[in-house]
Amino acid sequence: MVVAWIVVLGYFVLSALCDSTLRWRKYGDDQSNNWRKYDEEQFDIQFKEQGAFTISYDQDVWFSSGPMFVRKDETSYKTGDNLKFVTSQTSFGQDELGRYVSNLYRFSYGPNLVDFSARQYTAPKTPAIIFSQYFHNDSLHVAALNVNEIVSGFPTFDLRGSFMNLGFLSFGGRMIGDTEKKFGRWGKGAAKINTGITSGPVVIFNNKIQPVTVIISPFSEFMVGSVAHDLVNDTVGWGIMGGVDHIPAGTSYETMFYYGMDGINKTIGQWGKLMRDYYRKDEDYRRADLTVNYLGYWTDNGAYYYYQTEPNLTYEQTILDIKQEADSQKIPYRYLQYDSWFYPKGPEGGVKTWEPTAETFPDGFLYMYNQTGWPSAAHNRWWSSTTTYAIQNGGNYQFILDPPKAIPTEEEFWEFLFNDAKKWGLILYEQDWLDVEFNQTATLTDLKLGRTWLNQMGQAAANNGLTIQYCMANPRHALQSLENSAVTQARVSNDYQPGNEQWRIGVSSMFADALGLAPYKDTFWTTQTETGNKYGKDEPFPALEAVVATLSTGPVGPSDKISSTNVTLLMRCCNQDGLILKPSRPAVAIDKQIMQAAFNPTQNSTGEIWSTYTIVSGYPFGLVFAADQESEISLNRSEIGFTFQPMVIFSTMIDRSEKIEVLNFTQTTPLVLSKCSKSEFCLYYTSPVFSVGSSSVLIYGEEDKWVPMSPQRVLRIATLNSDIILTVKGSFEETVKFTFIEWSSGSSLRSVTCTFGPSGQAVIRYSSPKCETQ
Ligand SMILES: *[C@@H]1O[C@H](CO)[C@@H](O)[C@H](O)[C@H]1NC(C)=O
Ligand SMILES: *[C@@H]1O[C@H](CO)[C@@H](O)[C@H](O)[C@H]1NC(C)=O
Ligand SMILES: *[C@@H]1O[C@H](CO)[C@@H](O)[C@H](O)[C@H]1NC(C)=O
Ligand SMILES: *[C@@H]1O[C@H](CO)[C@@H](O)[C@H](O)[C@H]1NC(C)=O
Ligand SMILES: *[C@@H]1O[C@H](CO)[C@@H](O)[C@H](O)[C@H]1NC(C)=O
Ligand SMILES: *[C@@H]1O[C@H](CO)[C@@H](O)[C@H](O)[C@H]1NC(C)=O
Ligand SMILES: *[C@@H]1O[C@H](CO)[C@@H](O)[C@H](O)[C@H]1NC(C)=O
Ligand SMILES: *[C@@H]1O[C@H](CO)[C@@H](O)[C@H](O)[C@H]1NC(C)=O
Ligand SMILES: *[C@@H]1O[C@H](CO)[C@@H](O)[C@H](O)[C@H]1NC(C)=O
Ligand SMILES: *[C@@H]1O[C@H](CO)[C@@H](O)[C@H](O)[C@H]1NC(C)=O
Repeated sequence: MVVAWIVVLGYFVLSALCDSTLRWRKYGDDQSNNWRKYDEEQFDIQFKEQGAFTISYDQDVWFSSGPMFVRKDETSYKTGDNLKFVTSQTSFGQDELGRYVSNLYRFSYGPNLVDFSARQYTAPKTPAIIFSQYFHNDSLHVAALNVNEIVSGFPTFDLRGSFMNLGFLSFGGRMIGDTEKKFGRWGKGAAKINTGITSGPVVIFNNKIQPVTVIISPFSEFMVGSVAHDLVNDTVGWGIMGGVDHIPAGTSYETMFYYGMDGINKTIGQWGKLMRDYYRKDEDYRRADLTVNYLGYWTDNGAYYYYQTEPNLTYEQTILDIKQEADSQKIPYRYLQYDSWFYPKGPEGGVKTWEPTAETFPDGFLYMYNQTGWPSAAHNRWWSSTTTYAIQNGGNYQFILDPPKAIPTEEEFWEFLFNDAKKWGLILYEQDWLDVEFNQTATLTDLKLGRTWLNQMGQAAANNGLTIQYCMANPRHALQSLENSAVTQARVSNDYQPGNEQWRIGVSSMFADALGLAPYKDTFWTTQTETGNKYGKDEPFPALEAVVATLSTGPVGPSDKISSTNVTLLMRCCNQDGLILKPSRPAVAIDKQIMQAAFNPTQNSTGEIWSTYTIVSGYPFGLVFAADQESEISLNRSEIGFTFQPMVIFSTMIDRSEKIEVLNFTQTTPLVLSKCSKSEFCLYYTSPVFSVGSSSVLIYGEEDKWVPMSPQRVLRIATLNSDIILTVKGSFEETVKFTFIEWSSGSSLRSVTCTFGPSGQAVIRYSSPKCETQ
């Protein structure tokens, strides 16, 4: 080991630590009481008279307040008009997030009082301002004319005076806010952000190379937190959703204003860490989820067998044939997903009873579990008002019926459902159509019901050892999952259809991962043409689909026609047991991609450029993915998001006949990405440089996997006695080939092949062409 390398490693470990403890950066522990010490590194909120304020960064005003407002008795009360200033108070305090200074402004409307306050925490530990609305008195008939408005606004920002060159990313719509996500300029007349019940966090950033970034999101009562945009006066406000009709005395509602100096992706990550810590999201559920770790077979929309069986056969027979094919082709599916075709539905399509029909599974799920040995993931949608579980329909559980929909209101119901389901092998409950279930009178008008519904479901799942996937979630549902550790994953783009473009998950994966959710790309085909499919379509880019699924770190769930699976392609994801060989974190879009979409949308696209990495024994192995480029781009290390010092290995992976080209990827020699398309996307891998004797050695890893160096495969790397020693893991009788690159003048490959014995472990030494199995 050369000294230089140790220095590099030390640097990396330090920067990784920084990520996990929010932003200590260069200051270290702040023992002083002087919270203004970091002015130059923090956003500062300055109040003027009667609660009006500005928020500045480095002398520049980024935000100035608009009118604050509340509603009751079908009337709006607004500052500057009928919402009357009573008193204000400045105080200092400390809570779980750290030391803060609080400015509180009290207003009256009729006999009622409301407090609007802002707690500014001390950067760098907690670079945040929390805006709070506190309602002293019971308020009735609060609802706005439109559910997409808000019934209380604080903070609100007046965009008419906003001239800074800022961009935004606004999450919105379904699939945790992927489907309607918008990019653009933030400022006067320009901020076309998502509003209303499908709105979500808004990310605002400047145009620096490492953009200063702000995220504004609900911080409490996620299910009723909304953003509204008054287009007449160009003000944007955060507050309680427009449908809510009753605000009890003592209600408080909070909005988080979080900021960071390390760019868009990193700030979103830091915000997420704070949110997960504050809400005690337990990430062990995600780590332990079998469906996140192993290959599974899916039958949802886009799948070959979605509302379609083999000709003249039942679903039961079709699934048994899929199992038989998997066995004969040695495809290691480890679970099976049953989609919405299995259960009986009410008149308008809601679920009546969550059990398989006699037509689909004449022998039931337990029989299927027994025959296949596969545990299952099972889909559910919104409840029909005719559901047999509701007391009103002769069932045993409380539901609110709002024909044609219904919503359960007691946890016992979920306990019953899940307790029964786990007996037939359910491991993952897929709650789909979350937006549609939420969009009914009871949930839209009640302050608490949305949260109660999801928390009862989540608690019962945790009690029964199940995990949950959210599908068609609005951002509010995604935020609510912070209170539900059993929710381990979420769909992050629209439904797959062969050939569609739903693989572009580099931005939504960032949001999912920040909330502690494994991003799910959805199913895909591994073969271009699958005859007799119901969609009448082809999948032109099966490899693209497969690589994106693997890099997501979420489920990998193909859905090919029997005997159409490209097993070679599919198995690039996994080991012989179906264990997904993935990177240490989801691949996400680089900041430049987001900034181009916000600031230069008409320029030729630099395409989807994502990066991620694997860490083994502290050594980082980077991975860069690029596809669908219209123009070439040069990126240095920090632009790619790497904080470590790597080398670049070039590989197309699709066609490995190409010679490996090794680049010295320093901060000043950029990586030039060009012609990365959907059929020939680019994958670049980086390795630290190991010194063995007089030669420089890079570890490539398994050439026939998308992620050649994965923590699921490589347990340890040791450098001893001028040698590199890898401890690797695999399944009994699995053969793996590990490749090293000798890098001096030119480069040459050296491979070691291993066949695992019963212990599933082996030791590979660079110096020895043979591996030691144990
Ligand atoms: C509103 O709440 C304040 C503070 O708790 C209280 O003093 C006041 O009497 C309440 N007003 C009404 C009409 O209940
Ligand atoms: C816009 O501002 C004007 C002047 O402050 C006010 O009279 C009007 O009600 C506002 N419009 C809306 C839609 O709030
Ligand atoms: C399915 O059943 C129909 C009607 O009995 C028959 O005409 C057809 O040939 C069958 N198809 C297959 C593939 O067995
Ligand atoms: C299926 O059921 C049979 C008979 O009850 C039992 O012997 C067998 O172990 C079961 N197989 C699985 C995979 O559960
Ligand atoms: C909610 O449902 C109403 C009809 O009841 C529909 O008009 C509206 O578009 C739905 N909203 C969303 C966001 O789906
Ligand atoms: C399977 O995928 C590989 C790429 O991994 C490709 O080379 C091969 O042609 C594919 N096979 C078929 C039958 O499409
Ligand atoms: C943008 O793409 C078009 C078509 O590929 C090409 O002709 C043009 O030169 C490109 N423009 C820039 C600025 O790269
Ligand atoms: C995104 O941020 C995370 C930390 O939250 C970091 O580990 C990762 O490298 C970043 N990726 C990119 C592409 O910037
Ligand atoms: C790669 O770059 C590093 C740092 O600039 C330099 O020390 C090293 O000699 C370079 N290696 C080669 C093979 O060019
Ligand atoms: C990385 O590239 C950007 C331009 O895209 C440049 O401003 C920055 O200085 C570069 N970083 C280094 C260390 O060269």
